[in-house]
Amino acid sequence: MNLEEARQKLEKYNQGHLLKYYSTLPEAEQAALLQQISKTDLSVVTRIGKKEAAKKESSISPIAAMTLDEINTGREAFTETGTEAIRSGKVGAVLLAGGMGTRLGSDNPKGMYDIGITKPVYIFQRIVDNLFDIVDKTRTWIHLFIMTSDKNHEITQKFFEEQQYFGYDKEHIHFFRQDMAPASDYEGKILLESKGKLATSPNGNGGWFSSLTNAGLLGFMKQEGIEWLNVFAVDNVLQRIADPCFIGAVIERNCEAGAKVVRKNHPDEKVGVMCLEDGHPSIIEYYELTDSLRDTMTEDGEPAYNFGVILNYLFRIDSLEKVVNKELPLHIVEKKIPCLNEQGEFIQPEEPNGYKFETLILDLIKLLDSCLPFEVERSEEFAPIKNKTGIDSVESAQLLLKQNGIEL
Ligand code: UTP
Repeated sequence: MNLEEARQKLEKYNQGHLLKYYSTLPEAEQAALLQQISKTDLSVVTRIGKKEAAKKESSISPIAAMTLDEINTGREAFTETGTEAIRSGKVGAVLLAGGMGTRLGSDNPKGMYDIGITKPVYIFQRIVDNLFDIVDKTRTWIHLFIMTSDKNHEITQKFFEEQQYFGYDKEHIHFFRQDMAPASDYEGKILLESKGKLATSPNGNGGWFSSLTNAGLLGFMKQEGIEWLNVFAVDNVLQRIADPCFIGAVIERNCEAGAKVVRKNHPDEKVGVMCLEDGHPSIIEYYELTDSLRDTMTEDGEPAYNFGVILNYLFRIDSLEKVVNKELPLHIVEKKIPCLNEQGEFIQPEEPNGYKFETLILDLIKLLDSCLPFEVERSEEFAPIKNKTGIDSVESAQLLLKQNGIEL
């Protein structure tokens, strides 16, 4: 893209200010800026202040989860089916590690955080160890795809190298970058991170499949015969990855996807819950759960919307391919965005100063025809690390790990 074309694109979205310092930049930075403008989707800023296209009233109803009792009854058969799928190379794992982990407040990627007490135990190490359990049991290497972002790609890759992949087979670990979105001020003016660079942030975990496809990994997966992907967050240090029982249950129930869920520990717990929306599997975010839905009971006297997602999903790749081009809703989130101020000086704001634009993986579920909510025991599989202290923190996760006999 040349300067004139960049100008035209920027004008269309009222972003001409992004070229304010162009003439002062060295040639290489000028070229990099034009390239960034060319590949960035600027249209996101036009969605600020607009409600997501007047959503038609949808009909919400409860979805049947596979409960622990049912799982225990079918455990052997499910495990056999799942193990068979793993052994025949049909299952891959996708670690979502492109987030910024701002709540934890570390400058490094969240996975590099050391949660050890008497020895170093990195979050990434816990993830790899968890996957190793299944690799050992099935005697099969499982391909692990790690999504990073422009902000943390190099450092994440280097860390794995330095740690010798925590003993995992290097040939079965693949890194790919997620796409980035611009960040803007409250008026929708995209911010500059430096004189020759737009402020950007990872475009949310909803973009994982398109990013993986754009990175050319879909072809590789097909070539390897991978049909299912277990996708999970970086911060749950207790989760079971490529769990044969979960995989087997989803396959036997003939579902396009599965979601590990836990029973809410309180009606107001801040987790998204599974439901049916106009007959499709769906997730209601905790802030969208009305009092009346929260208080709805089933015939057995159980809360009808009681199964919270823990960001551990299983997807059939061919089902994802059918929906990959459908647009996901855009979530506009207030954040602190490091940027240049009016005077062209770099600032690290103490308070939110603008918006980031993200799509979410839970919105992907809604595009599918079926998704099996699969209950897991929260004390055995759910120890998320979001904050430094308090709820969902390093401290609470350390306690849960110890309760599960993991040395720290
Ligand atoms: P969170 O919603 O906890 O976001 O991500 P975060 O960026 O890690 O943390 P905060 O909100 O800034 O404190 C849930 C999972 O999705 C991944 C994260 O790495 C984590 O595994 N994620 C999130 C991405 O891979 N990309 C994104 O753009 C956002």
